[in-house]
Amino acid sequence: MIKGQIKDIIRNSLKLNEAVVSSVKSFSLKTEFLSSGNKENHIELYKAYAKSSNEISAKLDAIDKSSVSSNHSMYRALKLDEAYNHNGVFLHELYFENISDLASEIPMDNLAYIKLAKDFGSFDLWQKDFLACCQASRCGWAVTAYNIYSKKYQNIMIDLHSNNIPIGSMPVIVMDVWQHAYYRDYLKEVKTYAAAMMKELNWNVIEKRIQKVEQIKSLMR
Ligand SMILES: [Fe+2]
Repeated sequence: MIKGQIKDIIRNSLKLNEAVVSSVKSFSLKTEFLSSGNKENHIELYKAYAKSSNEISAKLDAIDKSSVSSNHSMYRALKLDEAYNHNGVFLHELYFENISDLASEIPMDNLAYIKLAKDFGSFDLWQKDFLACCQASRCGWAVTAYNIYSKKYQNIMIDLHSNNIPIGSMPVIVMDVWQHAYYRDYLKEVKTYAAAMMKELNWNVIEKRIQKVEQIKSLMR
């Protein structure tokens, strides 16, 4: 194959469409552990992340990539913001979907109960470790995720939206511990807020996520 043909193949393979569109979901949080002002404000913040995410995606789609630099370039700045806002959208959706269940209950034969008890030593140990992640995060998230490499469910602590995420993590339980999530109602008491939210985790939603993870695990064997 001559040099020119190789160049054409490379050039054509780089014709990628970067645009990713985040659509906004609607949420109605029934919990009384959060004030209505807090809930409304939080959903507005989520919508703003979706708007930013779409704007960044459109900019990346059209950006000139001829002068990209790791020191300073618009492309690099947008890629940082892309990860930040992408996670801002999907972490919020995962959070809103798995909180605020007034009839929260986890049966001991539930797949979620069995898997968490197995990988953390007991369900109680999972709870304690998850709460520790909620307290340890610097304005961010506590997440229980299945890791496709360690092949275990583990609790991870995210700062902001995109720092400290081990590769191969598939979130199944998500808690927002940014100050905007609790300060209005709990001041600095993040532990009290997180414990209240954990009392209303939607284990039906979490069970479906874990069932999906287990299906993916079986395909990866
Ligand atoms: Fe949030």
